[in-house]
Amino acid sequence: MKIVVVGASGRLGKRLVSKLREHGHEVVAASRSSGVNAVTGEGLAEVLVGAQVVVDVTSSPSFEDTAVLEFFKKSTQKLLAAEADAGDCKLKCVKGQKLRSNELLNLRHSYYDFST
Ligand SMILES: NC(=O)c1ccc[n+]([C@@H]2O[C@H](COP(=O)([O-])OP(=O)(O)OC[C@H]3O[C@@H](n4cnc5c(N)ncnc54)[C@H](OP(=O)(O)O)[C@@H]3O)[C@@H](O)[C@H]2O)c1
Repeated sequence: MKIVVVGASGRLGKRLVSKLREHGHEVVAASRSSGVNAVTGEGLAEVLVGAQVVVDVTSSPSFEDTAVLEFFKKSTQKLLAAEADAGDCKLKCVKGQKLRSNELLNLRHSYYDFST
């Protein structure tokens, strides 16, 4: 299965990429340092070609309430749009406790909370 990990250079992302490769998946490791920006959408369409799953393990550069919500709203909207354009591809997200009860949940993405 082709799986795109956005935020692949981060703490969670590195471990996830490694585990998915151990399980034999074709993994594309994506982040701004590899030319993929989830907030602007740069590079997303290209890496999602042929992907069945895109996993969002990005993190906001700021944890201030407004900034963090803005980051995840913009990035989730871009990822959902790219997922829809990619056809048979599903978005999975890993997010912390701060985002559990806020308006991000209205974006209808699959939500995995590893903070509890
Ligand atoms: N670490 C934990 O124990 C833990 C526990 C519970 C939940 N979480 C959640 O899991 C997520 C990842 O956490 P983490 O600790 O792995 O974060 P991290 O180490 O700070 O890594 C963040 C990743 O996001 C990428 N990134 C940042 N802005 C981006 C953008 N605009 N477009 C694409 N990629 C971007 C970074 O790479 P570049 O700088 O190259 O773009 C990096 O690969 C967060 O949402 C966090 O709340 C983490």
